[in-house]
Amino acid sequence: MSSIVVVGSLNMDLVVRTLRLPRVGETVLGTSFDTIPGGKGANQAVAAARLGGQVAMVGRVGQDAYGRALVDNLQQNAVDVSRIVTDDSVPTGVALIAVGAGGENQIIVYPGANGRVTPGDVDAAASRLTPGSVLVAQFETPLATVTYALELARSRGAITVLNPAPAVSEIGPWIRHADYLVPNETEAATLTGLTIAGDADVRRAAQALRDMGARHVVITLGNRGAYWAGPDGEGHVPAFPVQAVDTTAAGDAFVGALAVALTEGLSLPDAVRFGCAAGAVAVTRFGAQPSLPTRSEVAALLQQ
Ligand code: RIB
Repeated sequence: MSSIVVVGSLNMDLVVRTLRLPRVGETVLGTSFDTIPGGKGANQAVAAARLGGQVAMVGRVGQDAYGRALVDNLQQNAVDVSRIVTDDSVPTGVALIAVGAGGENQIIVYPGANGRVTPGDVDAAASRLTPGSVLVAQFETPLATVTYALELARSRGAITVLNPAPAVSEIGPWIRHADYLVPNETEAATLTGLTIAGDADVRRAAQALRDMGARHVVITLGNRGAYWAGPDGEGHVPAFPVQAVDTTAAGDAFVGALAVALTEGLSLPDAVRFGCAAGAVAVTRFGAQPSLPTRSEVAALLQQ
């Protein structure tokens, strides 16, 4: 089994559920409050580990209770945490999350220690970046570090998966180092400057991102599934119909699953279907890391 290295964020999610998300300037009452392990990087690491990947995490936490709880939770999920740095100069990252009655959310992330992840932190995981292994990164850690990680992984023969979230409006050299670029529709629109209002726009955005240098592009479409495009063709995978409770980390479940599928040598359409199944299970449960599915849950959905 090839290994997966996730370079990314660890956040404690401070989650309030509400019957209706507030408009700008409005105050609404919440119905519950929970602190839940999250962060796009850590979520993707846990997603991949629960699905059978051998996962190591590169990242930073502060020297505080949230940081300790996040690292503990990764360990409980069999993620190798030996390269996570405890940084005593900043607090652990947090995400303020509001979840509406239909499972939709609004998220503000304060990066904290995630903002201090360095290329040197990535170097500590270099020995795990071997041909056939997969490097996964997102944009909740510094862009320079993400770019370095992708470049290093490529130079060592590893496959790179970049989830450009939260999106940036300026394309950088990172796009040329992405074997698989996995934005959602909003992120694809921000990255390309295109308006995405239908399937034709999704295809156009994917083509634009490939023209900018990404080798394969997979655009996740929420309850419409996912669209993929690469040198060998393109296609659409429909979503698995489920009742959404909380969409937080559904995209992370997808990315973690895609990484596992790539280490197992699945074709891109099959890998995307595996990702859609993982995302579908995740939206049926509340919270980020607690919602991420096991291999048998995904297998059961795939058999339906
Ligand atoms: O993708 C979901 C994640 O985004 C949350 O867990 C939150 O921490 C933010 O990083």
